[in-house]
Amino acid sequence: MKAEYKVELYTGIRPTGDLTIANYIGAVKPLVELQKQGAKSLVFVADMHSLTDNEPAVANKFCREVVADYLALGLDPNKTNIYIQSSIAYQVSYMTMLLARHTSVSELLRVPTLKDKLKNTEHPETANALLFLYPVMMAADILLQRAKSVPVGEDQLAHMEVVRRLARDFNARYGDVFPIPAVQQVKSLRILSLKGTGKMSKSVPGGAIFLTDDLAKVAKKIKSAETATEGVMTDSLQSHITLAKELCGDPAVHLNIDSIISEHLEGKQVMGVFKDLLATIVVDFLRQFQTRRAEIVKDPSYIDSILKEGASVALANAESTLDLVRSSMK
Ligand code: TYM
Repeated sequence: MKAEYKVELYTGIRPTGDLTIANYIGAVKPLVELQKQGAKSLVFVADMHSLTDNEPAVANKFCREVVADYLALGLDPNKTNIYIQSSIAYQVSYMTMLLARHTSVSELLRVPTLKDKLKNTEHPETANALLFLYPVMMAADILLQRAKSVPVGEDQLAHMEVVRRLARDFNARYGDVFPIPAVQQVKSLRILSLKGTGKMSKSVPGGAIFLTDDLAKVAKKIKSAETATEGVMTDSLQSHITLAKELCGDPAVHLNIDSIISEHLEGKQVMGVFKDLLATIVVDFLRQFQTRRAEIVKDPSYIDSILKEGASVALANAESTLDLVRSSMK
């Protein structure tokens, strides 16, 4: 038996709703760029993982929203199949159970994301056990689809270690069942809050730009953002430069930004000019996004058909993997 890959590029996103521009730059844009390189990819909405901190109804509500966001941000359904995790809930749950048998309690307690949560925001008495099984369910997703490469942000690297360890151990015990997935770490750019402290996050809405924000409000938020004193490069200014350059690919605009920043570093009073330019770039980006998104959601059958196609690909892969798993364990 030879374990063969079925999907070249595979990743998941939780349906958390209300993406910020930092989510786009940190998580969505790298995926859209990878997809452009030609690999046939499979992306799924991890609504079952979302149950760690949401009621099923909430997780369910944001599924289609996040698909619409990703499509409007450039995910191409001709190159990427998209499915909702719970459309293959039986296969994911069953595989999670089989894999959990080969995972020790102490290994899961060592996973840094869980350790941090138990230290900072939760207690073992109140944390739910799904949180504990989070990396095992990730392994079920990835191994069922026989994924070759899994692009994820840095926060997921420890989970991927559990996934790879599980695949190797399962193979050592039952034969060559799972091809080992490779981790592809996507570069993560830190976009800071417009308020100048901490990273841009949903939990501080005043310092965040949401993809659905009203355009006039966005321009105002940017103009009242923290300003660097003449001659000084601050983390916040650096973050604004990154934001502008990531959202606008035009080399002429990049040169313009560079020259404004050189003047600033020479002590000239040009931060007003820079903020105007940043506001124009962000507003143009959001306007295009919002127009595309409105087009996409106008026809609900469009998303239905994408998800149906994605679910049938995911189901076929999962069933054929489960056949192999069952026969290897006989
Ligand atoms: P989620 O929705 O939390 O994150 C989705 C992806 O975005 C990356 N990410 C970031 N990358 C860079 N900078 C940031 N600020 C930033 N914020 C988020 C995350 O690393 C992730 O790659 N556990 C996954 C969902 C999942 C999954 C899987 C992924 C479930 N099963 C199987 C891959 C394969 C997650 O955290 O989703």
